[in-house]
Amino acid sequence: MDRIDTRVSRLLGVRYPIVQAPMGWIARSRLASAVSNAGGLGIIETSSGELDVVKDEIRRMRDLTDRPFGVNIAQLFVRDPGIVEFVVGQGVKFVTTSAGDPRRYTAQLKAAGLTVFHVVPSLDAALKAVDAGVDGLVVEGGEGGGFKSPRDVATMVLLPLVCSKVRVPVIAAGGICDGPTMAAAFALGAEGVQMGTRMVSAAESPVHDNWKRAVVAAKETDTVFLNRFSRPGLRALRTATSERLEREEHVGMDVFARAMDLYFGGDMEAAIALGGQVAGRIEAVEPVARIIAETVDGFRHTIGRLARAHEA
Ligand SMILES: Cc1cc2nc3c(=O)[nH]c(=O)nc-3n(C[C@H](O)[C@H](O)[C@H](O)COP(=O)(O)O)c2cc1C
Repeated sequence: MDRIDTRVSRLLGVRYPIVQAPMGWIARSRLASAVSNAGGLGIIETSSGELDVVKDEIRRMRDLTDRPFGVNIAQLFVRDPGIVEFVVGQGVKFVTTSAGDPRRYTAQLKAAGLTVFHVVPSLDAALKAVDAGVDGLVVEGGEGGGFKSPRDVATMVLLPLVCSKVRVPVIAAGGICDGPTMAAAFALGAEGVQMGTRMVSAAESPVHDNWKRAVVAAKETDTVFLNRFSRPGLRALRTATSERLEREEHVGMDVFARAMDLYFGGDMEAAIALGGQVAGRIEAVEPVARIIAETVDGFRHTIGRLARAHEA
Protein backbone atom coordinates (compact mmCIF):
# COMPACT_ATOMS: atom_id res chain seq x y z
CA MET A 1 0.00 0.00 0.00
CA ASP A 2 1.13 3.54 -0.67
CA ARG A 3 2.65 5.42 2.18
CA ILE A 4 0.90 8.30 3.90
CA ASP A 5 3.25 11.17 3.20
CA THR A 6 3.34 13.93 5.84
CA ARG A 7 6.10 15.85 7.58
CA VAL A 8 5.78 13.39 10.46
CA SER A 9 6.21 10.28 8.30
CA ARG A 10 9.19 11.93 6.58
CA LEU A 11 10.86 12.98 9.86
CA LEU A 12 10.31 9.55 11.38
CA GLY A 13 11.18 7.65 8.21
CA VAL A 14 8.02 5.54 8.40
CA ARG A 15 5.40 4.40 5.90
CA TYR A 16 2.46 5.46 8.07
CA PRO A 17 2.56 8.28 10.65
CA ILE A 18 1.04 6.03 13.32
CA VAL A 19 3.00 5.94 16.55
CA GLN A 20 2.65 3.46 19.40
CA ALA A 21 2.59 5.30 22.72
CA PRO A 22 5.39 4.91 25.20
CA MET A 23 4.06 3.05 28.25
CA GLY A 24 6.05 1.85 31.24
CA TRP A 25 6.85 -1.90 31.09
CA ILE A 26 4.47 -2.29 28.09
CA ALA A 27 6.27 -0.39 25.32
CA ARG A 28 9.01 -2.97 25.01
CA SER A 29 10.50 -4.75 22.01
CA ARG A 30 7.69 -7.23 21.31
CA LEU A 31 5.03 -4.55 20.92
CA ALA A 32 7.29 -1.84 19.47
CA SER A 33 8.85 -4.09 16.82
CA ALA A 34 5.39 -5.25 15.71
CA VAL A 35 4.38 -1.62 15.19
CA SER A 36 7.57 -0.71 13.31
CA ASN A 37 7.31 -3.85 11.15
CA ALA A 38 3.70 -2.91 10.28
CA GLY A 39 4.86 0.47 8.93
CA GLY A 40 4.25 2.63 12.02
CA LEU A 41 6.70 3.76 14.67
CA GLY A 42 7.28 1.65 17.77
CA ILE A 43 8.53 3.46 20.84
CA ILE A 44 10.49 2.00 23.76
CA GLU A 45 9.68 3.38 27.20
CA THR A 46 12.04 4.52 29.95
CA SER A 47 9.35 5.42 32.49
CA SER A 48 9.78 2.06 34.25
CA GLY A 49 13.21 3.40 35.25
CA GLU A 50 14.69 -0.02 34.46
CA LEU A 51 17.42 1.34 32.22
CA ASP A 52 19.43 -1.89 32.08
CA VAL A 53 16.39 -3.79 30.86
CA VAL A 54 15.52 -0.98 28.46
CA LYS A 55 19.04 -1.18 27.01
CA ASP A 56 18.52 -4.89 26.27
CA GLU A 57 15.11 -4.12 24.77
CA ILE A 58 16.64 -1.59 22.40
CA ARG A 59 19.29 -4.11 21.41
CA ARG A 60 16.54 -6.67 20.81
CA MET A 61 14.72 -4.17 18.57
CA ARG A 62 17.63 -4.32 16.16
CA ASP A 63 17.15 -8.10 15.85
CA LEU A 64 13.37 -7.84 15.47
CA THR A 65 13.09 -5.02 12.94
CA ASP A 66 15.19 -3.10 10.45
CA ARG A 67 12.66 -0.25 10.51
CA PRO A 68 12.94 2.96 12.54
CA PHE A 69 11.80 3.15 16.16
CA GLY A 70 11.94 5.74 18.92
CA VAL A 71 12.50 6.12 22.65
CA ASN A 72 10.51 8.19 25.17
CA ILE A 73 12.12 10.09 28.03
CA ALA A 74 9.41 10.55 30.68
CA GLN A 75 11.15 13.22 32.71
CA LEU A 76 9.07 12.78 35.85
CA PHE A 77 10.23 9.19 36.22
CA VAL A 78 13.72 9.17 34.80
CA ARG A 79 15.84 11.15 37.19
CA ASP A 80 19.07 9.57 36.00
CA PRO A 81 21.17 12.55 34.78
CA GLY A 82 22.84 10.25 32.24
CA ILE A 83 19.57 9.59 30.40
CA VAL A 84 20.49 11.70 27.36
CA GLU A 85 23.89 10.05 26.94
CA PHE A 86 22.10 6.75 27.42
CA VAL A 87 19.58 7.41 24.66
CA VAL A 88 22.14 8.94 22.29
CA GLY A 89 24.43 5.99 22.94
CA GLN A 90 21.74 3.57 21.74
CA GLY A 91 21.90 5.09 18.26
CA VAL A 92 18.21 6.02 18.32
CA LYS A 93 17.18 8.79 15.93
CA PHE A 94 13.77 9.81 17.35
CA VAL A 95 12.87 10.76 20.91
CA THR A 96 9.72 12.01 22.58
CA THR A 97 10.14 13.84 25.86
CA SER A 98 7.21 14.06 28.26
CA ALA A 99 6.15 15.01 31.78
CA GLY A 100 8.68 17.78 32.28
CA ASP A 101 10.33 20.97 31.07
CA PRO A 102 11.13 20.83 27.31
CA ARG A 103 14.17 23.08 27.87
CA ARG A 104 15.87 20.42 29.92
CA TYR A 105 17.00 17.98 27.21
CA THR A 106 16.03 19.38 23.80
CA ALA A 107 19.28 21.24 22.98
CA GLN A 108 21.45 18.31 24.04
CA LEU A 109 19.37 15.76 22.11
CA LYS A 110 19.28 17.92 19.00
CA ALA A 111 23.01 18.63 19.18
CA ALA A 112 23.47 14.85 19.04
CA GLY A 113 21.43 14.76 15.82
CA LEU A 114 18.16 13.36 17.17
CA THR A 115 14.66 14.44 16.17
CA VAL A 116 12.78 15.58 19.29
CA PHE A 117 9.01 15.81 19.83
CA HIS A 118 7.68 17.03 23.18
CA VAL A 119 4.34 15.88 24.63
CA VAL A 120 2.02 18.76 25.59
CA PRO A 121 -1.42 19.01 27.28
CA SER A 122 -2.06 22.75 26.67
CA LEU A 123 -1.35 25.64 24.30
CA ASP A 124 1.03 27.30 26.81
CA ALA A 125 3.04 24.11 27.06
CA ALA A 126 3.10 23.83 23.26
CA LEU A 127 4.45 27.37 22.81
CA LYS A 128 7.09 26.76 25.48
CA ALA A 129 8.22 23.58 23.73
CA VAL A 130 8.44 25.34 20.36
CA ASP A 131 10.56 28.06 22.04
CA ALA A 132 12.81 25.32 23.38
CA GLY A 133 13.48 24.28 19.77
CA VAL A 134 11.66 20.96 19.46
CA ASP A 135 11.11 19.51 15.97
CA GLY A 136 7.46 18.72 16.66
CA LEU A 137 4.79 18.15 19.28
CA VAL A 138 2.70 15.28 20.55
CA VAL A 139 -0.55 17.05 21.46
CA GLU A 140 -2.28 14.93 24.05
CA GLY A 141 -5.95 15.34 24.89
CA GLY A 142 -7.20 14.68 28.42
CA GLU A 143 -9.42 11.77 27.36
CA GLY A 144 -6.26 9.71 26.84
CA GLY A 145 -4.91 7.19 29.30
CA GLY A 146 -1.96 7.70 31.61
CA PHE A 147 -0.43 10.67 33.40
CA LYS A 148 -2.42 13.78 32.66
CA SER A 149 -2.56 17.46 33.50
CA PRO A 150 -5.33 17.92 36.11
CA ARG A 151 -6.58 20.73 33.86
CA ASP A 152 -7.38 18.31 31.07
CA VAL A 153 -8.54 19.50 27.68
CA ALA A 154 -10.15 17.17 25.13
CA THR A 155 -8.36 16.45 21.84
CA MET A 156 -11.23 18.04 19.88
CA VAL A 157 -10.47 21.42 21.50
CA LEU A 158 -6.73 21.22 22.14
CA LEU A 159 -5.57 19.87 18.79
CA PRO A 160 -7.01 22.53 16.43
CA LEU A 161 -6.05 25.24 18.93
CA VAL A 162 -2.39 24.21 19.05
CA CYS A 163 -2.24 23.48 15.31
CA SER A 164 -3.50 26.99 14.54
CA LYS A 165 -0.71 28.57 16.63
CA VAL A 166 2.41 26.56 15.78
CA ARG A 167 4.20 25.67 12.57
CA VAL A 168 5.96 22.51 13.70
CA PRO A 169 4.41 19.15 12.79
CA VAL A 170 1.98 17.66 15.31
CA ILE A 171 1.20 14.09 16.33
CA ALA A 172 -2.26 13.83 17.94
CA ALA A 173 -2.83 11.60 20.99
CA GLY A 174 -5.87 10.90 23.12
CA GLY A 175 -8.95 9.09 21.82
CA ILE A 176 -7.42 7.70 18.61
CA CYS A 177 -7.96 4.02 17.82
CA ASP A 178 -8.89 3.68 14.14
CA GLY A 179 -9.11 5.26 10.68
CA PRO A 180 -11.99 7.67 11.30
CA THR A 181 -10.34 9.08 14.44
CA MET A 182 -7.03 9.37 12.56
CA ALA A 183 -8.82 11.24 9.75
CA ALA A 184 -10.49 13.50 12.34
CA ALA A 185 -7.09 14.30 13.85
CA PHE A 186 -5.77 15.17 10.38
CA ALA A 187 -8.81 17.39 9.77
CA LEU A 188 -7.89 19.25 12.96
CA GLY A 189 -4.30 19.81 11.79
CA ALA A 190 -2.31 16.77 12.91
CA GLU A 191 0.13 15.00 10.58
CA GLY A 192 0.41 11.86 12.66
CA VAL A 193 -1.34 10.00 15.47
CA GLN A 194 -0.30 8.14 18.60
CA MET A 195 -2.28 5.29 20.15
CA GLY A 196 -1.95 4.23 23.78
CA THR A 197 -4.99 2.34 25.03
CA ARG A 198 -5.48 0.58 21.67
CA MET A 199 -1.92 -0.71 21.84
CA VAL A 200 -2.34 -1.94 25.44
CA SER A 201 -5.08 -4.18 24.06
CA ALA A 202 -3.06 -5.45 21.08
CA ALA A 203 -2.20 -9.14 20.83
CA GLU A 204 1.54 -8.34 21.08
CA SER A 205 1.10 -6.19 24.20
CA PRO A 206 2.79 -7.96 27.10
CA VAL A 207 0.11 -7.18 29.72
CA HIS A 208 -2.04 -9.90 31.28
CA ASP A 209 -5.18 -10.93 29.36
CA ASN A 210 -7.34 -9.63 32.23
CA TRP A 211 -6.22 -6.08 31.42
CA LYS A 212 -6.89 -6.55 27.69
CA ARG A 213 -10.30 -8.02 28.50
CA ALA A 214 -11.04 -5.02 30.76
CA VAL A 215 -10.26 -2.64 27.87
CA VAL A 216 -12.56 -4.57 25.53
CA ALA A 217 -15.34 -4.74 28.15
CA ALA A 218 -15.08 -1.05 29.12
CA LYS A 219 -17.77 1.43 28.21
CA GLU A 220 -16.81 4.97 27.25
CA THR A 221 -17.77 6.00 30.79
CA ASP A 222 -15.50 3.42 32.39
CA THR A 223 -12.44 5.53 33.15
CA VAL A 224 -11.75 7.60 36.26
CA PHE A 225 -9.59 10.68 36.73
CA LEU A 226 -7.43 10.61 39.85
CA ASN A 227 -5.79 13.62 41.51
CA ARG A 228 -8.14 16.20 40.04
CA PHE A 229 -6.86 18.68 42.64
CA SER A 230 -3.39 17.29 43.08
CA ARG A 231 -0.58 15.95 40.94
CA PRO A 232 0.02 13.93 38.87
CA GLY A 233 -3.40 13.61 37.26
CA LEU A 234 -4.05 10.04 36.13
CA ARG A 235 -6.66 8.52 33.84
CA ALA A 236 -7.26 4.84 34.51
CA LEU A 237 -9.83 2.16 33.82
CA ARG A 238 -12.65 1.99 36.36
CA THR A 239 -12.13 -0.81 38.89
CA ALA A 240 -13.18 -1.09 42.53
CA THR A 241 -9.74 0.24 43.49
CA SER A 242 -9.62 3.19 41.07
CA GLU A 243 -13.20 4.14 41.89
CA ARG A 244 -12.29 4.32 45.59
CA LEU A 245 -9.13 6.35 44.83
CA GLU A 246 -11.15 8.79 42.69
CA ARG A 247 -12.54 10.30 45.88
CA GLU A 248 -9.19 10.71 47.59
CA GLU A 249 -7.55 14.11 47.92
CA HIS A 250 -4.16 12.80 46.80
CA VAL A 251 -3.10 9.52 45.26
CA GLY A 252 0.65 8.95 45.62
CA MET A 253 2.96 6.93 43.43
CA ASP A 254 2.76 4.12 45.98
CA VAL A 255 -0.40 3.15 44.11
CA PHE A 256 2.00 1.48 41.65
CA ALA A 257 3.86 -0.49 44.36
CA ARG A 258 2.19 -3.73 43.23
CA ALA A 259 1.85 -2.74 39.57
CA MET A 260 3.54 -5.92 38.34
CA ASP A 261 0.79 -8.01 39.97
CA LEU A 262 -1.72 -6.10 37.84
CA TYR A 263 0.33 -5.70 34.66
CA PHE A 264 1.55 -9.29 34.41
CA GLY A 265 -0.25 -11.17 37.19
CA GLY A 266 -3.73 -10.09 36.11
CA ASP A 267 -4.87 -8.89 39.57
CA MET A 268 -6.84 -5.85 38.42
CA GLU A 269 -7.17 -4.54 41.99
CA ALA A 270 -3.44 -4.69 42.81
CA ALA A 271 -2.79 -1.21 41.34
CA ILE A 272 -4.44 0.95 38.69
CA ALA A 273 -4.69 0.12 34.99
CA LEU A 274 -3.96 3.33 33.08
CA GLY A 275 -6.34 3.72 30.15
CA GLY A 276 -8.30 6.26 28.12
CA GLN A 277 -11.97 6.85 27.32
CA VAL A 278 -11.37 5.30 23.90
CA ALA A 279 -11.44 1.91 25.67
CA GLY A 280 -15.20 2.26 25.10
CA ARG A 281 -14.57 1.95 21.35
CA ILE A 282 -12.20 -1.02 21.42
CA GLU A 283 -14.08 -4.22 20.70
CA ALA A 284 -11.45 -6.92 20.34
CA VAL A 285 -7.87 -7.90 21.02
CA GLU A 286 -6.19 -7.77 17.62
CA PRO A 287 -2.68 -8.15 16.27
CA VAL A 288 -0.78 -4.93 15.63
CA ALA A 289 -0.50 -5.60 11.88
CA ARG A 290 -4.30 -5.71 11.63
CA ILE A 291 -4.75 -2.63 13.80
CA ILE A 292 -2.39 -0.62 11.59
CA ALA A 293 -3.73 -1.99 8.27
CA GLU A 294 -7.34 -1.33 9.28
CA THR A 295 -6.46 2.13 10.56
CA VAL A 296 -4.80 3.01 7.24
CA ASP A 297 -7.75 1.57 5.27
CA GLY A 298 -10.29 3.36 7.44
CA PHE A 299 -8.32 6.60 7.17
CA ARG A 300 -8.32 6.44 3.35
CA HIS A 301 -11.97 5.42 3.24
CA THR A 302 -12.96 8.32 5.52
CA ILE A 303 -11.07 11.02 3.66
CA GLY A 304 -12.38 9.61 0.36
CA ARG A 305 -15.95 9.74 1.62
CA LEU A 306 -15.50 13.32 2.85
CA ALA A 307 -13.96 14.39 -0.45
CA ARG A 308 -16.85 12.83 -2.40
CA ALA A 309 -19.41 14.45 -0.11
CA HIS A 310 -17.73 17.76 -0.75
CA GLU A 311 -17.88 17.31 -4.53
CA ALA A 312 -21.51 16.16 -4.55
C1 LIG B 1 -0.79 2.22 30.29
C2 LIG B 1 -0.32 3.56 29.81
C3 LIG B 1 0.97 4.01 30.15
C4 LIG B 1 1.45 5.25 29.70
N1 LIG B 1 2.75 5.63 29.98
C5 LIG B 1 3.27 6.75 29.38
C6 LIG B 1 4.68 7.06 29.48
O1 LIG B 1 5.46 6.35 30.09
N2 LIG B 1 5.12 8.19 28.84
C7 LIG B 1 4.28 8.98 28.11
O2 LIG B 1 4.75 9.98 27.54
N3 LIG B 1 2.96 8.70 27.99
C8 LIG B 1 2.45 7.60 28.60
N4 LIG B 1 1.10 7.29 28.42
C9 LIG B 1 0.25 8.16 27.58
C10 LIG B 1 0.35 7.67 26.14
O3 LIG B 1 1.63 7.99 25.66
C11 LIG B 1 -0.67 8.26 25.13
O4 LIG B 1 -0.38 9.59 24.85
C12 LIG B 1 -2.10 8.14 25.54
O5 LIG B 1 -2.36 6.82 25.94
C13 LIG B 1 -2.97 8.52 24.36
O6 LIG B 1 -4.33 8.38 24.61
P1 LIG B 1 -5.18 7.03 24.32
O7 LIG B 1 -4.97 6.19 25.54
O8 LIG B 1 -6.57 7.57 24.18
O9 LIG B 1 -4.64 6.41 23.07
C14 LIG B 1 0.61 6.07 28.91
C15 LIG B 1 -0.70 5.62 28.58
C16 LIG B 1 -1.17 4.39 29.02
C17 LIG B 1 -2.55 3.93 28.63
